[in-house]
This record gives sequence, structure tokens and C-alpha cells, in this order.
Amino acid sequence: MSVRLRPALALAGLLAAALVVPPAADAHPAPPLYKNPHASVTARVDDLMSRMSLDDKLGQMTQAERQAVTPEEAARQRLGSVLSGGGSVPTPNTAESWADMTDAYQAAAMATPLAIPSIYGADAVHGHNNVYGATVFPHNIGLGAAHDPRGVELMGRYTAEEIAATGVDWDFAPCLCVARDDRWGRTYESFGESPADAVANSSEITGLQGKRLGQGRASILATAKHYIADGGTAGGDDQGDAQISLQELRKIHLPGYRAAIQRGVGSVMVSFSSWNGVKDSANHYLITDLLKGELHFQGFVISDWNAIEQIDGQPGFTPAEVSTSVNAGIDMFMEPYDSQKFIDTLRGEVQNGHVSMARIDDANRRILTVKFKMGLFEHPYADRGLLKDFGSAQHRALARKLVAESQVVLKNDHVLPLAKKDNKIFVAGKNADDIGNQAGGWTLTWQGQSGQHVIPGTTILDGIKAGADHGTTVTYDREGDGIDSSYKVAVAVVGETPYAEGNGDRPDGFGLDAEDLATIAKLKATGVPVVVVLVSGRPLDIAAQLPTFDGLVEAWLPGSEGAGVADVLYGDRRPSGRLAVSWPASAAQEPVNVGDGKTPLFPYGYGLSYHR
Ligand code: GLC
Repeated sequence: MSVRLRPALALAGLLAAALVVPPAADAHPAPPLYKNPHASVTARVDDLMSRMSLDDKLGQMTQAERQAVTPEEAARQRLGSVLSGGGSVPTPNTAESWADMTDAYQAAAMATPLAIPSIYGADAVHGHNNVYGATVFPHNIGLGAAHDPRGVELMGRYTAEEIAATGVDWDFAPCLCVARDDRWGRTYESFGESPADAVANSSEITGLQGKRLGQGRASILATAKHYIADGGTAGGDDQGDAQISLQELRKIHLPGYRAAIQRGVGSVMVSFSSWNGVKDSANHYLITDLLKGELHFQGFVISDWNAIEQIDGQPGFTPAEVSTSVNAGIDMFMEPYDSQKFIDTLRGEVQNGHVSMARIDDANRRILTVKFKMGLFEHPYADRGLLKDFGSAQHRALARKLVAESQVVLKNDHVLPLAKKDNKIFVAGKNADDIGNQAGGWTLTWQGQSGQHVIPGTTILDGIKAGADHGTTVTYDREGDGIDSSYKVAVAVVGETPYAEGNGDRPDGFGLDAEDLATIAKLKATGVPVVVVLVSGRPLDIAAQLPTFDGLVEAWLPGSEGAGVADVLYGDRRPSGRLAVSWPASAAQEPVNVGDGKTPLFPYGYGLSYHR
């Protein structure tokens, strides 16, 4: 540029600058850094926390049940999370209605000054089981027998898609409990008695979260639970005391959590139970030293339902229980109906110095880091585009495959597979045509329920009827009335009715009930070969009756796709299931596990097969 031009240009520049109106103060200010999705998670957390009051932080550490707080109340308390306990569902109980409900809580959260998204949690422990129409997969004890971790990962993926469609962000699953005593009511929530079963099936976490939390569509926060040794309590007493050495705790109950952390699990739920007389919720060594320290768990830790009140054994929580559990390392507190009281109590414990701000900030940092990683600030609402896949044929086909893979054939005196053609089959038993019984607990309600049409799907009888080919008749009567020697084979589908948690504890044994025994006897009396199919959440005490069975199949709790059981009975799918639990010679033999020197009726890993 020639020298002569410079003064003129400089003057022009001055004039231009004088004409530019400086931005008025009320022009759009730059959004705060924490709202910038391109900033690092650490920077976003630091920025956000610098703007949070003490009550903002206390609210983030608190979770309430949807029945206890309206969206407005949840927002007023600045709650970090809202949950649906088992069976806590909107009306109507449809996927769309869930999406409307969760979006209402989220909209209220996003309308607060800092617009920190809430995270909505639910127990989708075998599919999105609270929601009518969901694909309901086999419970974990069957999946453990299937020995198909890749299939379990895909189950997690499909479950995550159904969860995301409803606006739920957080799944209180998988349970990585290692059931060591089958009298325990939550045995069916365990993948098996060996830590290897929990390690292998931690693959569900990758299905739920994705290869990395927040990666891809429908990344749902998973929960490794219940930390720790919930399946190791004396007598299988739910929420009881695991009276075991540190060596056994590490060998049997810790590997699943190590695997979960390696998979990037974003949350861990502390167990109600105790270890050598100390409630896990109060155990600083377990939560802070072992889980967060030695295992380097970077996510956040949540308490179980009202669990901290159990620390002193008295109803209701005290300031001491609040400070003890916060200082033990729990970051978020499931206080379904007492969220405001919890917040007020914790505020007092901070103000009197019993809980440091450093601990409060650590908990918030963990919670907010997970929320940022999940992309909740950018995508806080239900992914309604996935509603079309809710309970889809593709999801149900996987469930049916996993049902078949989970079947364990324990006895076969030349009676299986059932002939598909030119057969005359009599089906009996309370669990043959009851989709509620075959789904078990945590299905629509917390405890589950009996019923032929509780959820959409196929019963085991439906599968037997559908699998029959030409020339074959199938007759059903629950009690076995009408059977006679003209039938070629009888199938008695018997076992347990639904339960959850402590309601399923069987300290006095777990044999077949009188109805089942009578049904089987009626069938046997005709001389017709009898195949017994057990629908149960645990191995049952059937040693005394076993000699009278011509065939025995453990179906576990198959969920909505009962036809998968028939696929194995007919040999349409070759039996491949292998026990993931030692089958006790009697309930009195419990606990019975690999390597304990006892002789079970059927050993861990047992299972027969056949070809059609
Ligand atoms: C229950 C269970 C836990 C569940 C939680 C929320 O008591 O122990 O597995 O995730 O409460 O429903």
C-alpha cells in the first residue's frame, strides 16, 4: 500500500469507529462456559460449580421418588434426580406417557436459574420392565445359564433404546451380586454363584451406556449394584450381614465391580446389607478407600432406598447417619419421601463442620461430570424417535433367543425333544399359561404378579401350541384334569410365583408347593411320561421327586417371550444352557457352591443337550 494513502485510511478508520454503536449492555452476553458443549468437561464442571450455592449443591446430592415431588417441587429443591421405584408409573402406563412425565420433570429443572438437568432413574433390570409393552427379558439367573455375554450386551443396547424413548436417563442395573445362598430372595437378580458370571455379564453396562458413556444414541447411565457382598449374607438373609473375610469379599464379590469400572460404569449403588456387622452405607473403607481409591471409580455413588436410616437400626435418618454416610463416600442419596428433610439435615451437618465443603464439592463434581459426559445438558429430553422401536419384534426376537439359551435340561429319559408331528401332548401346571409368573418380580410392579395377560408376549403354553406341527394336538388343563393314557407325553410347568427382594427369602426351604405336587402326581398316575418344567428364580428342592420325572428342564424366569422355552422342548433350538449355580441336594444343604466340598444334586456347569 503507498505511503500517501495511509493518513486518509487512518482518518476513515477513525470515522468508521466513531459511527459503530458499541454493543448495548443488554445485547446477548456470551453463554456461560458450562453451557459450551465444546469446552472440556472439567472446565464445564469448574465453571458451573463456581456459580452454585450451597443449596444448589445439596440438592444435586438428593434424589426423590416421583410420587413425593411434583416437577415444580423437585425444581424448587434443586434435586439432582427423580426416580420411579418399582411399579411407580404414570397413568396410563405407556411409553408415551412416561416420556411426558419425565419431560415435565426435566422442563422444570431446565427452567431453574442454572438450568442443571435432572437425571431420572428407574429399575430396568430385565428390560424396561415397569412400562407396559416393553420387551421383558429373562432375569439374570437365566442369562447366567445362557453364557452369552454378547447377547446380554445386545439386551442392554435394546433396553437402553426402550429406556431413552421414555425419557428415563439412568438404569439401576445391572445387579452384579454373586448369590452364594439360594435361600436369598434376590438370587434371580444374580448372574450366578461365581464372580466370573458377574464379570462376563457386566457386558450389559456396555450395552446400556455404549462403548463410552454418552457416546452414540440412547446412552443410558448404568449402575453396578449392590456394592458390596449383598449376595453373601448369612443364610441368604436379604439386607443381612455378610460375615466373611476381606479375602473372600475381594475374591468373590469384588471382581464384578472391577469389571464394571473397566467398562466405565457411571454409578454404583451401595447395598443395604452389612459386612461383619457394619452397614455398607456407613463403610468408609469399602466406598472411599476400596471403590474410589484402589479401584479408581470415577463416577458417583448412590445409596439404596432409605438405606442410611438402617445405620443405627432405628426408623428415620439422623444427622449422625447423614454425616456418616456422606463422609463414607456416598455422593447421592435415594430419599424417596424425605428429600427436603435430607437437604436440611445435610445443610446443618455442613454448617456445624461435621461434613466438609470439600466432600460436598467432591460429590457434586462426580455427579455433574457424569451429567456432562452423558450429554444431558445438550439432550435433556426423551428421545421420542425411538418410541417406534418400543417392544419391537426385533427386541422380542433377541429376548426369545436368550430365553432358549438359558434353558437348562437336567434330566431326559428319552422323552425330549417333543415330537412336533403326530404327537398328543397334555400340558398342565400353574406356570404353563401365566405370563406374570414367568416374568417374575420387577414386572410392571415391584413384586410382580400372576396373570395370563399381565404383559404382552407369549406364555410357555402359547409356544407349545405354536410349535406343534400337523397331526399333533395340545391339550391344557392347569390341574391336569382330563389326562388319560391316550396322551403320548405330559408337560407340567410348575414352580414359583413372583416376588422381589426380602419377600423372596426362603429360610425354611424352597420345594414345590402342594398344587404343583398334586398336578404332577395326577399326570404320573396315568403312566404317561412326564416332563417337568420349573419356572423359578432359584434352583428348587426337587431331589425327592426327581426319580418320578421323565424329563426336567429349568426355565428360570423367561420374561415376556415364553415361546423360547418351547423352542428348546421341541428341539427347534438345541439346549445349550449350563447351570450358573450349584443345584442343592436339599435346601438344608445351603449354601452350596463350587469348591466347598459339598456334593450338589447337579453341579455348577451341568446341563444336557440333544438334537431334533
Ligand atoms: C430397591 C432395591 C434396589 C433398587 C432401588 C430403587 O430397594 O434394593 O435394587 O434399585 O430400591 O427401586
